[in-house]
Amino acid sequence: MDSTSLGSLFYLPFKQQTFTGNQMRSSYVVQLDDEAATLFLGEQLAAILRPGLTVFLYGDLGAGKTTLARGILKGLGHHDKVRSPTYNLVEIYKLSELYLYHFDFYRFNDPLEWEEAGFREYFNQNSICLVEWPEKAGEFLHAADLKIWISYSGTGRIAELKAETEAGEQCLSRWQKQVSE
Ligand SMILES: Nc1ncnc2c1ncn2[C@@H]1O[C@H](COP(=O)(O)OP(=O)(O)OP(=O)(O)O)[C@@H](O)[C@H]1O
Ligand SMILES: [Mg+2]
Repeated sequence: MDSTSLGSLFYLPFKQQTFTGNQMRSSYVVQLDDEAATLFLGEQLAAILRPGLTVFLYGDLGAGKTTLARGILKGLGHHDKVRSPTYNLVEIYKLSELYLYHFDFYRFNDPLEWEEAGFREYFNQNSICLVEWPEKAGEFLHAADLKIWISYSGTGRIAELKAETEAGEQCLSRWQKQVSE
């Protein structure tokens, strides 16, 4: 395959850019050969995420969304257990001055449940929000700065990372600099 090996990740040879009006948005595709690669990507993302950012994680059951969140938390200095929020809807982490909220809305049957759950205030300038199954919360969910799709590819996974806002764009630009150093 025509790809470049960097650490244990394989970066497929394209960065895509799309324009909405005059706004440029970047996306990257990363090949994740095993669980360690997903965790490693998470650790890299931890270095470029900033308070106030919301990240949506998409992918089928068992794709690796919680694994990626685990890597992010490890990169942010959390070394204890990371539970899947599937049953509690949210797991809360206080990491020095930062709150990280890890949501999983898989169990929502109706987007109204998002309104009723009272999570809106968790999305604020002092927190990082990671959201699994955002599509189950419907259109009233806080907008994402970054969207990450994880899909099955042979025995591994492919991740696509896409900036949705200027803050997300800056994040991906920091990430690109980091991985090309
Ligand atoms: N790149 C990878 N290649 C192969 N296996 C992986 C990779 N990344 C993670 N896995 C494995 O896939 C499974 C993913 O489980 P995980 O709980 O992270 O999925 P999920 O997307 O959060 O699922 P759910 O929608 O049920 O919450 C784990 O067993 C993990 O070890
Ligand atoms: Mg999960």
